[in-house]
Amino acid sequence: MDESVQRAVSKQIGQEFFAGYFYLAISAHFERESLLGFARWMRAQAQEELAHAMKLFDFMNHRGANPQLKSVPAPPSEFGPPLSLFEAALEHEREVSRLIHELYDLAGNKHDHATQLELQWFITEQVEEESMIGAVVDQLRMAGDNKAALLMLNREMGARDSG
Ligand code: FEO
Repeated sequence: MDESVQRAVSKQIGQEFFAGYFYLAISAHFERESLLGFARWMRAQAQEELAHAMKLFDFMNHRGANPQLKSVPAPPSEFGPPLSLFEAALEHEREVSRLIHELYDLAGNKHDHATQLELQWFITEQVEEESMIGAVVDQLRMAGDNKAALLMLNREMGARDSG
């Protein structure tokens, strides 16, 4: 694998681990707030992010490349209301999509077809994640200050399968 592509994929592994940390921190916050459905949803999302990191890690190993693991930044420790947290999650996913697209273009410039093919899975996954989190943001906006609607959504989201 081209050195610059290796560096960029390695960086993306770090991004995915950070996303896992980010969602885990939010999950713990929801747990403390007794919003257990949101907590469970965020925990499942964190597990997905760790699986994304491992998918890229395995891909690099299969290519005989070197995943250059760096330190993972700490997630936020201050938390606003549920709407602002899901808005932050959506913002985060949009940024991840942008990074994946950038990486896809870099792999294309280096004629690295295998990496492009691997990244196509991530491009599709990002469309799904943005749409899923965007729907939660819409519903939280509709719920507004209505506590009953918030609790109903919390219950509904708790039905998500883990990982
Ligand atoms: Fe790994 Fe949320 O995308």
